Amino acid sequence: MYGPDGKKYLDLISGVSVSNTGHNHPKVVEAIKAQVDSYTHLMVYGELILSPQIKYAQQLAEILPAQLNTCYFVNSGSEAVEGALKLAKRFTGKSRIISFRNSYHGSTLGALSIQGSELYRNAFRPLMPDTFQIDFNDEKSLDFIDSKTACVIVEPIQGEAGVISPQNNFLKKIRSRCNETGSLLIFDEIQTGFGRTGFMFATDRFGVVPDIILLAKALGGGMPLGAFISSNEIMSALVSNPPLGHITTFGGHPVSCAAGLASLNVIIEENLVESCNLKSSLFKEKLKHPLISGVRGEGLLLAIQLSDPVYVPYIVAKAHNYGLILDYFLFCNNALRIAPPLIIKEEEITLACQMLQMLLDDAAKNVMKK
Ligand SMILES: Cc1ncc(COP(=O)(O)O)c(C=O)c1O
Repeated sequence: MYGPDGKKYLDLISGVSVSNTGHNHPKVVEAIKAQVDSYTHLMVYGELILSPQIKYAQQLAEILPAQLNTCYFVNSGSEAVEGALKLAKRFTGKSRIISFRNSYHGSTLGALSIQGSELYRNAFRPLMPDTFQIDFNDEKSLDFIDSKTACVIVEPIQGEAGVISPQNNFLKKIRSRCNETGSLLIFDEIQTGFGRTGFMFATDRFGVVPDIILLAKALGGGMPLGAFISSNEIMSALVSNPPLGHITTFGGHPVSCAAGLASLNVIIEENLVESCNLKSSLFKEKLKHPLISGVRGEGLLLAIQLSDPVYVPYIVAKAHNYGLILDYFLFCNNALRIAPPLIIKEEEITLACQMLQMLLDDAAKNVMKK
């Protein structure tokens, strides 16, 4: 990235896991221009068949597990969450929704109601009723999933919690509990999708197939786009009684779909998923410093754990002076987020780690510890 003065920045955040193919990838820009030249918005969703939506939905169905073959495009991650919660309630005829502490699913009222942070939820009560949070990686808490539960929504790797991976087949255990209780399993892959964790989707990584998958962020190749995707049988619950059970004016905007499809093709053609794990190891190997107590995460979704949270705000703010774009996590105050575009080159990783080390030296010298 370049500032208005021409200063260069190494982007280690990707607009929070959006720009997986970098900024202004020529193939993505070309697809956007071609679509703008052809048409932009024509009609609200469904009355006219818009080929960019169809082509992209077909491509997604090809790379997702077989039963995730019916795609409803929306405008954002939060909207994908809203659509999925409605779909689960409608399909199961139940109302209870289970999510996880420290999860992040978006800022609309429904998404906020299931978010795993009391700090954020409390300020906006009353929220949606019949929502409950349980602990991630706590097998015992799965007993809360019962026959009244419409769905369980989970990030396969918790992002804002500071990149927390499931342990001891936790996702498999959620899947089997949902099967026992007749509840739908929703994977929020809004942050983990499109190669970010070293697999095209985290569902591939853990060998667990949800009933509904949520995509956004990198889905639009830098343009706004979200989707909830399920089997045709489940999605059909939105077709009748009432008809048009979910409506969106701009969802699946043709320009966003054209950009997203071009970006996905770049991920596939440039083998960005395959190279992600090597790049991940390089970061882990090079990120050594007295202030660093550990680096965790999968693929290029990493958290640098610092010895003290006091350093985090200073480092994130000062990063710009060192030509780095860095960020923190919403629910983990002692870690730095590393989620660069998947196109980052090995020499750029080396350079980024050198710059980070200088920045950490600066923090060690200048941040006053209480
Ligand atoms: C896991 C997850 N779900 C949902 C969302 C909400 O997406 P959006 O900001 O596009 O509404 C985010 C955004 O950060 C996210 O990380």
